[in-house]
Amino acid sequence: MRIIVTGGAGFIGSNFIFYMMKKHPDYKIICLDKLTYAGNLSTLKDVMDEPNFRFVKLDICDREGVYKLFEEEHPDLVVNFAAESHIDRSIENPEIFLQTNIIGTSVLMDACRKYGIKRYHQISTDEVYGDLPLDWPDLFFREDTPLHTSSPYSSSKASADLLVGAYGRTYGLPVTISRCSNNYGPYQFPEKLIPLMIQRALDDKPLPVYGEGQNVRDWLYVEDHCKAIDLILEKGTVGEVYNIGGHNEMHNIGIVKLICDYLGKPYSLIEHVTDRKGHDQRYAIDPTKIHEELGWLPETVFKDGIKKTIQWYLDNKEWWENIISGDYQNYYQEMYGRSEERKNEGNYFSRRLL
Ligand code: NAD
Ligand code: DAU
Repeated sequence: MRIIVTGGAGFIGSNFIFYMMKKHPDYKIICLDKLTYAGNLSTLKDVMDEPNFRFVKLDICDREGVYKLFEEEHPDLVVNFAAESHIDRSIENPEIFLQTNIIGTSVLMDACRKYGIKRYHQISTDEVYGDLPLDWPDLFFREDTPLHTSSPYSSSKASADLLVGAYGRTYGLPVTISRCSNNYGPYQFPEKLIPLMIQRALDDKPLPVYGEGQNVRDWLYVEDHCKAIDLILEKGTVGEVYNIGGHNEMHNIGIVKLICDYLGKPYSLIEHVTDRKGHDQRYAIDPTKIHEELGWLPETVFKDGIKKTIQWYLDNKEWWENIISGDYQNYYQEMYGRSEERKNEGNYFSRRLL
């Protein structure tokens, strides 16, 4: 099998590449990534020289580049992780979200139509269902829950899902979609809740909790997400949507306190700050379908996964310190010896948090 994995220099995409290279050493994996601020080539350094791995720096919106890559590689499978993924950024600047998340998805599927494909798999999110009320704990997102989005990010992901369905029906493209809850684990960019809090707590900096911190997210260890995607590629039914989640709901404030406890830091670091605009209250996935049809169950319980994750950030300080300092953006230049255009996207951390 030859797989194009888009967005593989980001958090979940890189974990998926590591998982697949171990599980299917006979597959060739081609990672296509634009290396935006969220893409970090150093994350992939351990697989870079493997004979069955190829990295290509490319924008999924670049039709000519994408077609050329398909012509060269003739992939059997495409798994599309590439996206602008951070809600707060989508509230500040929606446009790039529409470009990458919607147009990019259509370019990839056009390439699949043109060159032929066994499967196009779209990595979507539980956020396409909107949110659930806090006081109705027995309500969950099912695959037939109507799409009802809140942020420019989730709207762009829902738009992409609709396009994927349309390409399936109109052109007969063999598509599947998965909608997962919040992931945590190694290599998550430290703008997202868990790595942000770990990194700031270690530096004794204030921990910015939006509003009262009562919003609920359903956390899944990233490797369990990767296993689910692999199962869908192998056994999933074309045209179907699969929800992925671990029935592990936590209030944000509970997570932040747990991180403080683990690191031996005082709760006085917690600072309640202005709430996110349009902040979704609760996400909660019903994963019955993927369990019953494909036999998937999460394997990592939260208390183990969060310990492993915190320990990973303790053991890999250089990885996230290079992000905070902006040095990680030089890695591509060092690897490939070319000048890079993405130096001045502005250090988000210095603008928002430092
Ligand atoms: P991330 O922001 O860590 O990584 C995104 C990657 O995509 C980066 O490597 C970036 O360089 C690349 N990219 C961005 N724009 C691109 C473009 N135009 N062309 C090529 N590459 C581009 O994101 P993540 O958290 O790993 O999320 C991956 C996918 O999973 C996204 O589609 C996201 O919507 C979805 N998802 C994420 C979560 C979560 O909790 N993080 C949960 C459910 C679904
Ligand atoms: O549910 C899946 C989604 O999970 C993915 O589709 C998104 O790509 C991913 O970013 C994530 O979205 P969230 O908004 O849930 O994740 P984030 O880590 O940004 O925030 C988690 C919760 O923590 C949310 O309720 C907002 C809150 N928060 C976040 C940050 C960054 C804070 O209280 N303070 C913060 O500084």
